[in-house]
Amino acid sequence: PSTAVLTIDGPVSSGKGTVARLVAIRLGWHLLDSGALYRVLGYHAKNQGLALDDEPALVELAKTLPVRFIEQEGETAVILDGEDVSNIIRQESVGELASQVAVLQPVRDALLARQRVFAEPPGLVADGRDMGTVVFTSAPLKIYLTASAEERARRRFEQLKEKGFDATLATLVEDIRTRDDRDMNREVAPLRPADDAVVIESTTLTVDEVVNRILEEAAARQ
Ligand code: C5P
Repeated sequence: PSTAVLTIDGPVSSGKGTVARLVAIRLGWHLLDSGALYRVLGYHAKNQGLALDDEPALVELAKTLPVRFIEQEGETAVILDGEDVSNIIRQESVGELASQVAVLQPVRDALLARQRVFAEPPGLVADGRDMGTVVFTSAPLKIYLTASAEERARRRFEQLKEKGFDATLATLVEDIRTRDDRDMNREVAPLRPADDAVVIESTTLTVDEVVNRILEEAAARQ
């Protein structure tokens, strides 16, 4: 039988990453952070001096990307060419690189197989933008997690403050709108809920409430 897959898609800073990790831990399933793949690709391309619109070179890089994900104690270490890049790729600037390479269809195609291998027993929680609409279209449970741009900016602001980074709320709202615009209006695999997705609007929900809601949906499908 095919492996159970639960997809969680949504815009930047919707809390997907945190929620997907917690759901995966509660279910005892594997986790795919597909954004990390795009981030590593953008980061590696930049370091190699590639132009971010050099399609053939990016496709080649996507196919051969020397990246490994190591799941340990509920965390995932991202190893690129032997170097732990888990923190570096979280930077805002790398997110920007990721979203630039992500608009190229051949690049997305080259990453398809690399994402599908994560579907291993007992199950997979896949987090991204097109997990339910493109990569795992037959997943029995698809979640689309969202929140208002202001609330997402506020969450991001708190995160950055905790890490000691400087940011202003106004700039973050602006950044989020720009990224939403690029992700939702791009021609290839635009961000949108799958037709059969359960949409969770989390502006007024806590992380635990969202996680429990998803686990209830999962239980109802077993
Ligand atoms: O989710 P995260 O912020 O790590 O993703 C970084 C960027 O990678 C997104 O803004 C999006 O452009 C791209 N991405 C994508 N498809 C995915 C995951 C991420 O296009 N499945």
